[in-house]
Amino acid sequence: MNIIRLEEVDSTNLYAKKNLINLPDKSIILADRQTSGRGRFDRSWIDLGNDNIFMSIILKPSDNFMHCYPNLTQYLSLVLCQTIEEYGLAPKIKWPNDVLIDGKKIAGILSETVMHGNTFNGLVLGVGINLNSDNESLTLIKDKEATALNLEISVDKIDKEEFLNNLLNKFFDNYDKFLANGFAEIKDEYLSRACFMNSSVSVQVFNKKQSGIAKAITDSGELVIEKDNKEIVLTMGDIL
Ligand code: BTN
Repeated sequence: MNIIRLEEVDSTNLYAKKNLINLPDKSIILADRQTSGRGRFDRSWIDLGNDNIFMSIILKPSDNFMHCYPNLTQYLSLVLCQTIEEYGLAPKIKWPNDVLIDGKKIAGILSETVMHGNTFNGLVLGVGINLNSDNESLTLIKDKEATALNLEISVDKIDKEEFLNNLLNKFFDNYDKFLANGFAEIKDEYLSRACFMNSSVSVQVFNKKQSGIAKAITDSGELVIEKDNKEIVLTMGDIL
């Protein structure tokens, strides 16, 4: 694994995208500080200090885009849950890939595809994890209720390096199997941690909102909602 550690960067995802061509498969970009962290749907990701994780993983699994690549965010959300479970907690996944503890967000994932014309160059899987914070700093996060691992288990400090090693080992241990079998490989494990199933949800898909009952997750990781006895299959969006 090629790990690049930066003291400060605008966004590890931007850095990874800019340098993807020259960096090997499975390169990891880690920053102590991120001045312009980006989230899904053009949101920002707040820097809660250098005891937290701001990381992007560069992946170049093949020369062509494969249909399971968008599901890598769901794979990473599951691996994040498994890592957090080792601290005695029961994290949940809010479709597609937010990781929550008691409804509060602890980690977010932003995946970006790098193309050169029609040629697929690779993927950047960015993840922000709140490992160490305090209640006052968390109020800087305005768009969602958030939490941090140290607060959830009432300790002063979570060891960042230990968490990272554990997460990356878990991610790469089953990565090849995931690529070979796609979302079906993790569907049961994902579903057992999915929150909001069989409840009423509103899903924002860009400027459109779809509401209904969350009924199922397909073998491709999509969310099926039911409205007026009709099923709507959503490939992307954000449960509000
Ligand atoms: C989200 O929940 O909206 C996704 C947040 C992703 C944040 C991470 S932090 C490291 C990487 N660099 C970024 O600019 N964003 C991702």
